[in-house]
Amino acid sequence: MQPLKIGNLKLKNPLLLAPMVDVTDLPYRLVCRKQGAAMAYTEMLNLGAIIHENKKTQNMMKTSKEDRPLGIQVTGNSVEDMKKAVPYFKNYDLVDINCGCPSDRIIGNSSGSHLLKTPEKIKSFISCLKNEGCIVTAKIRLGFKKNNVVEIAKEIEKAGADALTIHARLASESYNVPADWKWIADIKNKIGIPVIGNGDINSGQKARQMLDIADGAMIARAAIGDPTIFKQILYYLKTGKEKQSTLKERIQSFREYIKIAKNYDLVEIPRIKRLGCHFIKGQEGSARMRGELMSLQTLEEIEQFVRKI
Ligand SMILES: Cc1cc2nc3c(=O)[nH]c(=O)nc-3n(C[C@H](O)[C@H](O)[C@H](O)COP(=O)(O)O)c2cc1C
Repeated sequence: MQPLKIGNLKLKNPLLLAPMVDVTDLPYRLVCRKQGAAMAYTEMLNLGAIIHENKKTQNMMKTSKEDRPLGIQVTGNSVEDMKKAVPYFKNYDLVDINCGCPSDRIIGNSSGSHLLKTPEKIKSFISCLKNEGCIVTAKIRLGFKKNNVVEIAKEIEKAGADALTIHARLASESYNVPADWKWIADIKNKIGIPVIGNGDINSGQKARQMLDIADGAMIARAAIGDPTIFKQILYYLKTGKEKQSTLKERIQSFREYIKIAKNYDLVEIPRIKRLGCHFIKGQEGSARMRGELMSLQTLEEIEQFVRKI
């Protein structure tokens, strides 16, 4: 397996946990790291909220010494805000610029995937961060409505980014449209910085195929409710064989998630219940189990529920 290097960061393997809103908080990242994720990111955090020390954002910025290497992913539209936010980045190994979020709220703020329409803005963010000595990456899609990924990737490299992550869909495309990996292979041939491929990796075989065309494989949905996906992929990379996880293993990860959330004072009942539903999906009787979980009110009740599974 080729080691993946981003700036001076050397990853122990090429598997990265994607940034995900309402999922990749500190406990989730730690649980995925235990299963083999070599790198993780905070969920996307708004630059304004970082600078104004918004309470929820500060919770999502929490990290620990085991939570390494770690990227902070930011969204915004102002280079001034980016500059003001730099002092808050000192606990992270790199800063990742979100150029892919398709939500109306983020696009309406000229950030996220809207930035794909304004490559010069992305470049000014990268230059600003490089001038401040940060390791910088960008996570892009193939384009907003029109594919301009080659132009964007080249501009990002020229501006001095240390790596590029490509979620191989247009911002206008839903998950129903398969990610188009040929663009990842194409960009890998056209730029010199590491390319991390993302979109639809949910098995060892898919990760292997991605690593045949890119330097790293980033996993999002397949890790929701199943952090063991990283262990499964690493097993495949070693042996060429798929090995599914058991419900028991998944529930063990969920227990660990709750324990770590308690330790770091990050218990949010709705989030724990939502995540818990993912951990039990696909099991016999899971619809009834989800109903029961969603009806619970306290952490003690949830812990008792989990003990019963
Ligand atoms: C619940 C959820 C939250 C997400 N939040 C973010 C985010 O904060 N930042 C980001 O760049 N992408 C975000 N994404 C997109 C993923 O990082 C990833 O690019 C996309 O899901 C494709 O990867 P996958 O096929 O492995 O799921 C999110 C996706 C999901 C499902």
